[in-house]
Amino acid sequence: MQKILVARPIFPDVIDRLKHYFDVEWNNGDALPADELTRRLADKDGALTAGDPVGAATLAAAPRLRVVANMAVGYNNFDMAAFNAANVLGTNTPDVLNETTADFGWALMMATARRITESEHFLRAGKWEKWAHDAFLGPDVYGSTLGIVGMGRIGQAIARRAKGFNMRIVYHNRSRVAPEIEAELNAEYRTKEALLREADHVVLVLPYTPENHHTIGAAELALMKPTATLTNIARGGIVDDAALAEALRARRIAAAGLDVFEGEPNVHPALLTVPNVVLTPHIASASEATRRAMANLAADNLIAALGEGPRAGRPPNPINPDVLGKARS
Ligand code: GLV
Repeated sequence: MQKILVARPIFPDVIDRLKHYFDVEWNNGDALPADELTRRLADKDGALTAGDPVGAATLAAAPRLRVVANMAVGYNNFDMAAFNAANVLGTNTPDVLNETTADFGWALMMATARRITESEHFLRAGKWEKWAHDAFLGPDVYGSTLGIVGMGRIGQAIARRAKGFNMRIVYHNRSRVAPEIEAELNAEYRTKEALLREADHVVLVLPYTPENHHTIGAAELALMKPTATLTNIARGGIVDDAALAEALRARRIAAAGLDVFEGEPNVHPALLTVPNVVLTPHIASASEATRRAMANLAADNLIAALGEGPRAGRPPNPINPDVLGKARS
């Protein structure tokens, strides 16, 4: 039997599925440090990860490894140049999380605009003594302008929900989406700078790449309206968290909602000291059904890539399909 490592706790029934095909080593505990992950992969044919960094040194130390299946749509934890050089397949879990993640983007944007967590903390602290006409005023969502940075599948699902809120939609993306999609979504393309100047609520849903490291920093925050909100459900590192904390402190923008952080699970300490930010621990795809679908899809990819199951040799979500069928190098 081929050997695999499941590097993270996942649903036990998915482990049972994998055991049908493989000799499974399961780390049902904290994320493995890099050297421990490398050590455990040394004799494995495949692995299932969730955000664990995998690069050239790990691949070089694991000569049998042919596939690493990430339980996430984002795969910035994989060094894809190293995967390609070693002929190792990477897979991800797109699509199954689109609607759940779009729901959460909305939840976080609305909580941010309408100051839900800030006012709840006030109430829980026993500070609510009377109704006040000017308590916790925030910007409207209905009828405002939504700026979506990253108009992929999740960005589009967010845009579709904006219809009921009578919003104008501006978007920025590496490339313009097809005219039919722009028309369906009623979304207008803007440069990043124009979008930041125009939007009342900016939502970030773009993949993390070295090119868009700190794509929102002090200069970009300075372009935003002082009444605007910023919501990041994409990846830590896309926003310069220190610059954002400073902009929030100085009220250069009204508020932010963050589900992802640079260096998470650590959070920039300055973000913890400002009241006008809603903070959640990377849970945008966390519905029961969606997390199960992601785990099963990662397992499907692993099973198929290692030549087992009904899709043997045809994993559903190859990131670098060119390596399929090539010998490990
Ligand atoms: C979660 O962050 C994902 O990329 O799926």
